[in-house]
Amino acid sequence: MNLHPVDFKTLTPEIFQVFGTQNALLTAGDRTDCNTMTIGWCQLGRLWSIPVCTVYVRPERYTYQFMESQDYFTVSVLPLSHKQTTMQICGTKSGRDIDKVKECGLTLRYGAGDAPFFDEAEWVLVCKKIFVQDMDPTCVLDQETILSHYGKKGGWHRIYTGKVVEAYTK
Ligand SMILES: Cc1cc2nc3c(=O)[nH]c(=O)nc-3n(C[C@H](O)[C@H](O)[C@H](O)COP(=O)(O)O)c2cc1C
Repeated sequence: MNLHPVDFKTLTPEIFQVFGTQNALLTAGDRTDCNTMTIGWCQLGRLWSIPVCTVYVRPERYTYQFMESQDYFTVSVLPLSHKQTTMQICGTKSGRDIDKVKECGLTLRYGAGDAPFFDEAEWVLVCKKIFVQDMDPTCVLDQETILSHYGKKGGWHRIYTGKVVEAYTK
């Protein structure tokens, strides 16, 4: 096994860079079934006086139904060397059509709540959902920055904020 549990307070990711370069795998499910997809949007920080991780999922993703049915999700940040392979496949193919875990040769591990994550990661957060809200187009103030992400590109994202309950690293 590559990863071991750590106190998440010791993690020091370059949060303004990591999700735009390495990207991450958002995974939800359990020991019988799960799905993963590449994400580029993710926030880490503190909210309601606890450490949180927020992710954004369009309703048309297959991952969405796992995010809805499960209490936990995980964010696995893989090495940059996976960018053209794993991240590309998991960001363009749907779990409805292929088994991405098998296709990418990923090794499943399970954290709190049997939440699946990947042993190939550099670091992982295991999160328990505490707040869910759909993005509301009527709240947009800067149309130029935001509206280009919608329309033909897909539906408005659902926002999932999770309490960080575990972290793993090498
Ligand atoms: C670099 C990159 C970042 C992405 N970020 C997100 C994201 O934050 N939220 C989202 O809903 N989709 C995002 N996607 C798109 C999904 O990863 C993609 O549609 C995927 O095939 C969905 O898989 P699924 O149908 O198995 O859930 C991203 C794709 C790429 C390539």
